[in-house]
Amino acid sequence: MSRRSILKALAALLSAFWTVIIVFPIFRYLQRPKDDAPQISEVEVGPESDILPGSSKTFKYGKKPGLLIRDDKGELHAFEAVCSHLACTVQHRPKKGDIYCACHSGVYDLAGGNVSGPPPKPLTPLKVAVNENGLVVVSKA
Ligand code: FES
Repeated sequence: MSRRSILKALAALLSAFWTVIIVFPIFRYLQRPKDDAPQISEVEVGPESDILPGSSKTFKYGKKPGLLIRDDKGELHAFEAVCSHLACTVQHRPKKGDIYCACHSGVYDLAGGNVSGPPPKPLTPLKVAVNENGLVVVSKA
C-alpha cells in the first residue's frame, strides 16, 4: 500500500467524519419533536357541586388548557381554552356572560361560538358528563 493511497483513505475518512458532524445536528434540528404526552381520553375536573351556575373552572386537558363553564341555566359546557385566532388562552367572564381572549379582544359566547373580534372559528368543544361519584368528566367530543 502506497503512502498516497493511505493519505487518500485518511482524507476520505476525515471528510466522512466532518460530514456526519455537520449534517447530524442539522438533521436533528429539522426533525419534528416527539410528542411524549400521553393521549388524553378523559379528565376528571372535580365535583359537580363545586361549579355553581355562572361560574367556571379551568383545568389541564393534556398539554392544553380546558375551560368548564356552568351557565345560568345550570348546563355544563367544556372547551379547549385555546383561542382559534392565535392560540392564546381564553377565559370566562361571568359578569359579561361570555368567553374572552385578551390577546386581541376576541369574544365567544358560552356555547363556544365566535361572536366578535378576530377569532375565525368557534372554540373546540369537549364532551361533559357527570360520573356515578358526582365528578365532572370531560372527554373529546
Ligand atoms: S389570539 Fe385570541 S383573539 Fe387573537
